[in-house]
Amino acid sequence: MGTVGVNWQLKAILPVGFVLLAGLFVFTLATVSLRDPERHAVLLVAGTGAVAICAVVIIALAYVIQRPMVELQDKIAQVSEGNLDAVVSFANRNDEIGDLGRNFNHMLQQLRESREEIETLHRTQMSRAEHLATLGEMAAGLAHEIRNPLAGIAGVIEIIGRDLPSSSPACAVVKDVRLEIVQINRILTDLLETARPHPPQVCLSNLNTTVEHAVMLARQQVLSKPIKIELQQAPDLPEVEHDSDQIHQVLLNLLLNAVQAMDDAGTVRVEIDSREDCATVRVSDTGRGIPPQNLPNIFRPFYTTKGNGTGLGLSLARRIVEEHHGRIEVGSVVGKGSTFEVLIPFRVPAAQAPVS
Ligand SMILES: Nc1ncnc2c1ncn2[C@@H]1O[C@H](COP(=O)(O)OP(=O)(O)OP(=O)(O)O)[C@@H](O)[C@H]1O
Ligand SMILES: [Mg+2]
Repeated sequence: MGTVGVNWQLKAILPVGFVLLAGLFVFTLATVSLRDPERHAVLLVAGTGAVAICAVVIIALAYVIQRPMVELQDKIAQVSEGNLDAVVSFANRNDEIGDLGRNFNHMLQQLRESREEIETLHRTQMSRAEHLATLGEMAAGLAHEIRNPLAGIAGVIEIIGRDLPSSSPACAVVKDVRLEIVQINRILTDLLETARPHPPQVCLSNLNTTVEHAVMLARQQVLSKPIKIELQQAPDLPEVEHDSDQIHQVLLNLLLNAVQAMDDAGTVRVEIDSREDCATVRVSDTGRGIPPQNLPNIFRPFYTTKGNGTGLGLSLARRIVEEHHGRIEVGSVVGKGSTFEVLIPFRVPAAQAPVS
């Protein structure tokens, strides 16, 4: 700060000093004709005047410019340390330095307001995040608690179903209850997996088997409907590194969406294939299709167009597939049907292999 002071003072004084010295020189020349004592007196007065002018200019500059500059430097240092309450005192001057002070104070006022806004927003978001985390924990806890008795109920229903004579009208009811239990179980699994996600436990295994299990479960859900689920396996497909439980869940969600997209009769085709370094599972239906304006939303958590849907199915499916370093592609034509294609790399890329 000191060096800057000397610099501007020198810069200001040098031209003034130069003009005054030039004036003295002219004075000396102009007084050559005068006699010595008079000449000395004139030169002494002129020299003293020059020095006095210099001193007054310096003092005026120091008062008018240097003081506000030093104060400004000091306040900027305070602001950079986080003190936004600093204000400069020269803001009430009616010159350009005053303008500078007013602008500086105004800028600080705006900074203070922005900081308050950010702090309020941050506080609100933190409390919302805490609230959501608590709700998520509650939902997960509840889902967990419901799953155990549900498994008990499923066991009892299984036994009752086995003991019933096949001609009994209760058989149909038992079958419906069994299907409902599968559905509740899927929703609970989705909820638990969303609230407490866990990284995939990948191992090399046959993707055909994983897909087949999901297809079999989905077929049970449509036994009473005129809906066909066709499966085309790929017997030569190399083994795929995947978490079979999680991919099973992905496919079941896609299959049930396909089934639910059909109002009455229809066909769901499941084809296993490969593309470049990925295995692919394509699930296409002849359902109602997805309007283009809804397509960007379908993977959003809680987005659903169904009265009894949670809207977690596709968001969870995408998360699981992405954790396998794969992706899901969608194509849909309204009135004709939709195709969801899951791509999973045969091998998890080495640098990104999940820690299991
Ligand atoms: N095959 C499909 N055909 C038509 N619309 C679909 C299809 N798959 C998904 N959708 C649309 O995407 C939305 C979101 O699907 P998602 O599986 O995430 O939730 P959901 O099926 O509504 O509920 P949940 O999966 O919990 O039963 C659906 O509500 C539906 O509108
Ligand atoms: Mg769904």
